[in-house]
Amino acid sequence: MNNNYQHNKNNGYFAIAREPSTIPLDDFLEKYFNTEIPVIIEGIGESWPAINCWSEGYIREKLAKDSTAKAASLWYWMEKGSLEEDYQTPDIINELLDFADVFPRNELMRIWAHPQGNVSSWHYDANMVNVFNVQITGRKEWFLVSPETPLDCYPFTSFAIMDNNDEKIFKDKIYTHVILNQGDMLYIPPLWFHKVISLEKENLNLNWIFTKRKTNVVSKTLKRELARYSLQSYLSNHKYQWVQKSFSYINKRIPGYLRWKWRYPEMIQTAISPPSFSLIRLTIKEIALLGKVLLHVNKIKPYIQGIRSIKKLSK
Ligand SMILES: [Fe+2]
Repeated sequence: MNNNYQHNKNNGYFAIAREPSTIPLDDFLEKYFNTEIPVIIEGIGESWPAINCWSEGYIREKLAKDSTAKAASLWYWMEKGSLEEDYQTPDIINELLDFADVFPRNELMRIWAHPQGNVSSWHYDANMVNVFNVQITGRKEWFLVSPETPLDCYPFTSFAIMDNNDEKIFKDKIYTHVILNQGDMLYIPPLWFHKVISLEKENLNLNWIFTKRKTNVVSKTLKRELARYSLQSYLSNHKYQWVQKSFSYINKRIPGYLRWKWRYPEMIQTAISPPSFSLIRLTIKEIALLGKVLLHVNKIKPYIQGIRSIKKLSK
Protein backbone atom coordinates (compact mmCIF):
# COMPACT_ATOMS: atom_id res chain seq x y z
CA MET A 1 0.00 0.00 0.00
CA ASN A 2 1.54 3.31 -1.02
CA ASN A 3 1.94 6.45 1.04
CA ASN A 4 -0.68 8.44 -0.80
CA TYR A 5 -3.33 5.88 -0.02
CA GLN A 6 -2.36 5.92 3.68
CA HIS A 7 -2.46 9.70 3.70
CA ASN A 8 -5.75 9.70 1.90
CA LYS A 9 -7.49 8.01 4.79
CA ASN A 10 -7.08 11.19 6.85
CA ASN A 11 -8.82 14.47 6.20
CA GLY A 12 -6.71 17.31 4.85
CA TYR A 13 -4.45 18.05 1.93
CA PHE A 14 -2.40 15.34 0.28
CA ALA A 15 0.18 15.78 -2.47
CA ILE A 16 -0.89 14.03 -5.65
CA ALA A 17 1.47 11.25 -6.73
CA ARG A 18 3.55 11.62 -9.89
CA GLU A 19 4.71 8.72 -12.01
CA PRO A 20 6.79 8.40 -15.18
CA SER A 21 5.08 7.54 -18.48
CA THR A 22 6.80 4.15 -18.32
CA ILE A 23 4.82 3.04 -15.22
CA PRO A 24 3.97 -0.68 -15.63
CA LEU A 25 0.28 -1.51 -15.83
CA ASP A 26 0.40 -3.68 -12.68
CA ASP A 27 1.81 -0.77 -10.66
CA PHE A 28 -0.82 1.56 -12.01
CA LEU A 29 -3.59 -0.90 -11.16
CA GLU A 30 -2.36 -1.57 -7.66
CA LYS A 31 -1.53 1.98 -6.60
CA TYR A 32 -4.21 4.02 -8.40
CA PHE A 33 -6.81 2.31 -10.56
CA ASN A 34 -8.04 -0.34 -8.12
CA THR A 35 -7.80 1.97 -5.11
CA GLU A 36 -9.25 4.94 -7.08
CA ILE A 37 -6.55 7.42 -6.17
CA PRO A 38 -5.66 10.27 -8.56
CA VAL A 39 -2.18 10.46 -10.10
CA ILE A 40 -0.26 12.44 -12.68
CA ILE A 41 1.56 10.46 -15.35
CA GLU A 42 4.28 12.84 -16.43
CA GLY A 43 5.26 13.56 -20.02
CA ILE A 44 2.99 10.94 -21.56
CA GLY A 45 2.13 13.23 -24.47
CA GLU A 46 5.24 15.34 -24.69
CA SER A 47 6.43 13.84 -27.98
CA TRP A 48 3.01 13.91 -29.67
CA PRO A 49 2.68 16.19 -32.73
CA ALA A 50 -0.54 17.52 -31.13
CA ILE A 51 1.56 19.45 -28.61
CA ASN A 52 2.87 21.66 -31.42
CA CYS A 53 0.07 21.71 -33.97
CA TRP A 54 -3.23 21.76 -32.04
CA SER A 55 -5.32 24.88 -31.77
CA GLU A 56 -9.10 25.16 -31.54
CA GLY A 57 -9.24 26.25 -35.21
CA TYR A 58 -7.17 23.24 -36.30
CA ILE A 59 -9.34 20.83 -34.29
CA ARG A 60 -12.58 22.21 -35.68
CA GLU A 61 -11.32 22.02 -39.25
CA LYS A 62 -10.21 18.38 -38.87
CA LEU A 63 -13.30 17.22 -36.96
CA ALA A 64 -15.65 18.83 -39.49
CA LYS A 65 -14.46 16.17 -41.94
CA ASP A 66 -14.99 13.26 -39.50
CA SER A 67 -18.45 11.71 -39.60
CA THR A 68 -17.99 10.22 -36.10
CA ALA A 69 -17.14 13.60 -34.53
CA LYS A 70 -19.72 15.72 -32.74
CA ALA A 71 -19.73 18.93 -30.78
CA ALA A 72 -21.47 18.50 -27.44
CA SER A 73 -22.32 21.57 -25.39
CA LEU A 74 -19.06 21.41 -23.48
CA TRP A 75 -16.68 19.36 -25.58
CA TYR A 76 -16.02 17.73 -28.93
CA TRP A 77 -16.14 13.98 -29.05
CA MET A 78 -15.27 11.35 -31.56
CA GLU A 79 -15.57 7.59 -31.82
CA LYS A 80 -12.14 7.00 -33.18
CA GLY A 81 -9.22 9.01 -34.21
CA SER A 82 -9.79 11.50 -36.97
CA LEU A 83 -6.75 13.17 -35.42
CA GLU A 84 -4.94 9.91 -34.82
CA GLU A 85 -1.66 10.89 -36.38
CA ASP A 86 -1.41 13.68 -33.80
CA TYR A 87 -1.25 11.52 -30.64
CA GLN A 88 -0.79 7.95 -29.42
CA THR A 89 -3.29 6.26 -27.15
CA PRO A 90 -1.20 5.47 -24.04
CA ASP A 91 -0.51 1.76 -23.55
CA ILE A 92 -2.13 1.66 -20.12
CA ILE A 93 -5.40 2.96 -21.60
CA ASN A 94 -5.35 0.41 -24.43
CA GLU A 95 -4.71 -2.33 -21.89
CA LEU A 96 -7.45 -1.16 -19.51
CA LEU A 97 -9.97 -1.01 -22.36
CA ASP A 98 -9.27 -4.66 -23.10
CA PHE A 99 -10.44 -5.59 -19.59
CA ALA A 100 -13.73 -7.47 -19.54
CA ASP A 101 -15.05 -5.35 -16.67
CA VAL A 102 -15.25 -2.11 -18.65
CA PHE A 103 -18.56 -0.96 -20.13
CA PRO A 104 -18.02 -0.50 -23.86
CA ARG A 105 -18.48 3.08 -24.99
CA ASN A 106 -18.48 4.62 -28.46
CA GLU A 107 -17.77 8.16 -27.36
CA LEU A 108 -14.50 7.26 -25.80
CA MET A 109 -12.54 10.41 -26.48
CA ARG A 110 -13.31 14.01 -25.81
CA ILE A 111 -11.50 17.24 -26.62
CA TRP A 112 -12.02 20.25 -24.39
CA ALA A 113 -11.24 23.79 -25.49
CA HIS A 114 -11.34 26.53 -22.87
CA PRO A 115 -10.29 30.18 -22.86
CA GLN A 116 -8.20 31.75 -20.11
CA GLY A 117 -10.05 32.18 -16.84
CA ASN A 118 -12.75 29.60 -17.62
CA VAL A 119 -13.87 27.94 -14.40
CA SER A 120 -15.56 24.55 -14.33
CA SER A 121 -17.39 24.70 -11.03
CA TRP A 122 -17.30 21.89 -8.44
CA HIS A 123 -18.91 18.67 -9.63
CA TYR A 124 -18.22 15.01 -10.14
CA ASP A 125 -18.65 13.32 -13.50
CA ALA A 126 -21.77 11.27 -14.13
CA ASN A 127 -21.76 7.58 -15.01
CA MET A 128 -18.88 6.96 -12.63
CA VAL A 129 -16.36 7.56 -15.40
CA ASN A 130 -12.64 7.08 -15.02
CA VAL A 131 -11.04 10.05 -16.75
CA PHE A 132 -7.55 10.19 -18.28
CA ASN A 133 -6.94 13.81 -19.16
CA VAL A 134 -3.89 14.95 -21.15
CA GLN A 135 -2.99 18.63 -21.33
CA ILE A 136 -2.23 19.38 -24.99
CA THR A 137 -1.89 23.16 -25.02
CA GLY A 138 -1.98 25.64 -22.14
CA ARG A 139 -2.21 24.73 -18.43
CA LYS A 140 -5.05 24.01 -16.06
CA GLU A 141 -5.34 24.28 -12.30
CA TRP A 142 -7.18 21.36 -10.73
CA PHE A 143 -8.71 21.02 -7.26
CA LEU A 144 -9.86 17.53 -6.32
CA VAL A 145 -11.93 16.39 -3.34
CA SER A 146 -12.29 12.74 -2.38
CA PRO A 147 -15.69 11.02 -2.75
CA GLU A 148 -15.24 9.97 0.88
CA THR A 149 -15.66 13.62 1.99
CA PRO A 150 -18.35 14.85 -0.43
CA LEU A 151 -19.57 18.37 -1.11
CA ASP A 152 -23.31 19.09 -0.93
CA CYS A 153 -24.83 18.89 -4.39
CA TYR A 154 -27.96 20.37 -5.91
CA PRO A 155 -30.68 17.84 -5.16
CA PHE A 156 -30.27 14.68 -7.23
CA THR A 157 -27.41 16.09 -9.34
CA SER A 158 -23.63 15.65 -9.34
CA PHE A 159 -23.11 19.42 -9.38
CA ALA A 160 -21.98 20.97 -6.08
CA ILE A 161 -23.90 23.88 -4.59
CA MET A 162 -22.06 27.07 -5.48
CA ASP A 163 -21.43 28.96 -2.31
CA ASN A 164 -18.11 30.25 -3.73
CA ASN A 165 -16.30 29.80 -0.47
CA ASP A 166 -13.33 27.58 -1.22
CA GLU A 167 -11.74 28.05 2.19
CA LYS A 168 -14.76 26.48 3.82
CA ILE A 169 -15.03 23.88 1.07
CA PHE A 170 -11.73 22.27 2.07
CA LYS A 171 -12.59 22.08 5.77
CA ASP A 172 -12.78 18.43 6.81
CA LYS A 173 -12.13 17.30 3.25
CA ILE A 174 -9.54 14.98 1.75
CA TYR A 175 -8.25 17.11 -1.12
CA THR A 176 -5.42 17.90 -3.46
CA HIS A 177 -4.48 20.73 -5.80
CA VAL A 178 -2.27 20.62 -8.86
CA ILE A 179 -1.40 22.49 -12.04
CA LEU A 180 -1.46 20.21 -15.07
CA ASN A 181 1.27 21.11 -17.56
CA GLN A 182 1.56 20.36 -21.28
CA GLY A 183 2.16 16.70 -22.02
CA ASP A 184 1.15 15.46 -18.55
CA MET A 185 -1.87 13.23 -17.93
CA LEU A 186 -4.13 13.40 -14.88
CA TYR A 187 -6.06 10.29 -13.84
CA ILE A 188 -9.33 11.26 -12.14
CA PRO A 189 -10.95 8.19 -10.56
CA PRO A 190 -14.74 7.80 -10.38
CA LEU A 191 -16.73 10.25 -8.26
CA TRP A 192 -13.86 12.59 -7.32
CA PHE A 193 -15.19 16.15 -7.09
CA HIS A 194 -13.25 18.64 -9.17
CA LYS A 195 -13.01 22.31 -9.95
CA VAL A 196 -10.85 23.35 -12.92
CA ILE A 197 -9.46 26.76 -13.91
CA SER A 198 -7.94 27.39 -17.36
CA LEU A 199 -4.74 29.38 -17.02
CA GLU A 200 -3.46 30.18 -20.53
CA LYS A 201 -4.89 31.99 -23.54
CA GLU A 202 -5.95 28.70 -25.14
CA ASN A 203 -6.25 25.43 -23.23
CA LEU A 204 -6.87 22.18 -25.07
CA ASN A 205 -7.21 18.80 -23.41
CA LEU A 206 -7.68 15.35 -24.83
CA ASN A 207 -9.27 12.79 -22.59
CA TRP A 208 -10.37 9.18 -22.57
CA ILE A 209 -13.29 8.09 -20.41
CA PHE A 210 -14.79 4.76 -19.49
CA THR A 211 -16.76 3.14 -16.67
CA LYS A 212 -15.75 0.05 -14.72
CA ARG A 213 -18.41 -2.57 -14.11
CA LYS A 214 -17.16 -3.21 -10.58
CA THR A 215 -15.59 -1.28 -7.75
CA ASN A 216 -14.19 -2.25 -4.38
CA VAL A 217 -14.01 1.34 -3.16
CA VAL A 218 -17.15 2.11 -1.18
CA SER A 219 -17.23 5.85 -0.49
CA LYS A 220 -20.03 8.10 0.77
CA THR A 221 -20.46 9.44 -2.76
CA LEU A 222 -20.74 5.91 -4.18
CA LYS A 223 -23.58 5.17 -1.75
CA ARG A 224 -25.35 8.36 -2.83
CA GLU A 225 -24.72 7.57 -6.47
CA LEU A 226 -26.15 4.05 -6.22
CA ALA A 227 -29.24 5.37 -4.45
CA ARG A 228 -29.56 8.19 -7.02
CA TYR A 229 -29.47 5.81 -9.96
CA SER A 230 -31.74 3.28 -8.29
CA LEU A 231 -34.26 6.04 -7.75
CA GLN A 232 -33.93 7.01 -11.42
CA SER A 233 -34.55 3.41 -12.41
CA TYR A 234 -37.55 3.21 -10.04
CA LEU A 235 -39.11 6.39 -11.46
CA SER A 236 -38.47 5.62 -15.11
CA ASN A 237 -39.92 2.10 -14.81
CA HIS A 238 -42.77 3.01 -12.47
CA LYS A 239 -46.00 1.03 -12.82
CA TYR A 240 -47.96 4.26 -13.32
CA GLN A 241 -47.37 5.88 -16.72
CA TRP A 242 -47.92 9.37 -15.34
CA VAL A 243 -44.97 8.93 -12.93
CA GLN A 244 -42.70 7.77 -15.77
CA LYS A 245 -43.86 10.60 -18.01
CA SER A 246 -43.51 13.28 -15.32
CA PHE A 247 -39.99 12.13 -14.49
CA SER A 248 -38.98 12.07 -18.14
CA TYR A 249 -40.61 15.50 -18.75
CA ILE A 250 -38.72 17.13 -15.86
CA ASN A 251 -35.43 15.39 -16.63
CA LYS A 252 -35.44 16.46 -20.27
CA ARG A 253 -35.89 20.08 -19.31
CA ILE A 254 -32.77 20.45 -17.22
CA PRO A 255 -29.36 21.13 -18.85
CA GLY A 256 -27.60 18.03 -20.20
CA TYR A 257 -24.74 18.06 -17.70
CA LEU A 258 -27.24 18.10 -14.79
CA ARG A 259 -29.50 15.48 -16.34
CA TRP A 260 -30.21 12.37 -14.40
CA LYS A 261 -29.20 9.44 -16.56
CA TRP A 262 -27.35 6.21 -15.99
CA ARG A 263 -26.36 5.24 -19.52
CA TYR A 264 -25.72 1.54 -18.91
CA PRO A 265 -28.24 -1.30 -18.59
CA GLU A 266 -26.63 -2.65 -15.43
CA MET A 267 -25.57 -0.98 -12.21
CA ILE A 268 -22.04 -1.07 -10.92
CA GLN A 269 -21.28 -4.18 -8.94
CA THR A 270 -20.10 -3.42 -5.41
CA ALA A 271 -20.21 -4.94 -1.96
CA ILE A 272 -23.26 -2.80 -1.20
CA SER A 273 -26.64 -2.40 -2.82
CA PRO A 274 -29.07 0.35 -1.88
CA PRO A 275 -32.02 -0.97 0.14
CA SER A 276 -35.33 0.78 -0.48
CA PHE A 277 -35.11 2.75 2.76
CA SER A 278 -31.93 4.40 1.47
CA LEU A 279 -33.92 5.71 -1.51
CA ILE A 280 -36.37 7.31 0.88
CA ARG A 281 -33.48 8.63 2.98
CA LEU A 282 -31.80 10.04 -0.15
CA THR A 283 -35.00 11.78 -1.21
CA ILE A 284 -35.51 13.37 2.22
CA LYS A 285 -31.84 14.39 2.48
CA GLU A 286 -31.76 15.92 -0.98
CA ILE A 287 -34.99 17.82 -0.49
CA ALA A 288 -33.64 19.10 2.84
CA LEU A 289 -30.83 20.76 0.86
CA LEU A 290 -33.32 23.04 -0.87
CA GLY A 291 -32.81 25.62 1.88
CA LYS A 292 -29.10 25.81 1.08
CA VAL A 293 -29.87 25.93 -2.64
CA LEU A 294 -32.18 28.92 -2.18
CA LEU A 295 -29.42 30.82 -0.36
CA HIS A 296 -27.12 30.52 -3.39
CA VAL A 297 -29.60 30.35 -6.22
CA ASN A 298 -28.44 33.71 -7.62
CA LYS A 299 -25.06 32.17 -8.46
CA ILE A 300 -26.49 29.51 -10.77
CA LYS A 301 -27.84 31.64 -13.62
CA PRO A 302 -24.65 33.63 -14.37
CA TYR A 303 -22.63 30.40 -14.25
CA ILE A 304 -24.90 28.60 -16.69
CA GLN A 305 -24.86 31.64 -18.99
CA GLY A 306 -21.08 31.68 -18.74
CA ILE A 307 -20.67 28.07 -19.82
CA ARG A 308 -19.17 28.38 -23.22
CA SER A 309 -21.22 26.58 -25.82
CA ILE A 310 -19.22 25.06 -28.63
CA LYS A 311 -20.78 25.82 -31.97
CA LYS A 312 -21.89 22.93 -34.16
CA LEU A 313 -19.22 21.55 -36.46
CA SER A 314 -19.92 22.52 -40.04
CA LYS A 315 -19.93 19.35 -42.10
FE1 LIG B 1 -15.77 16.91 -14.89
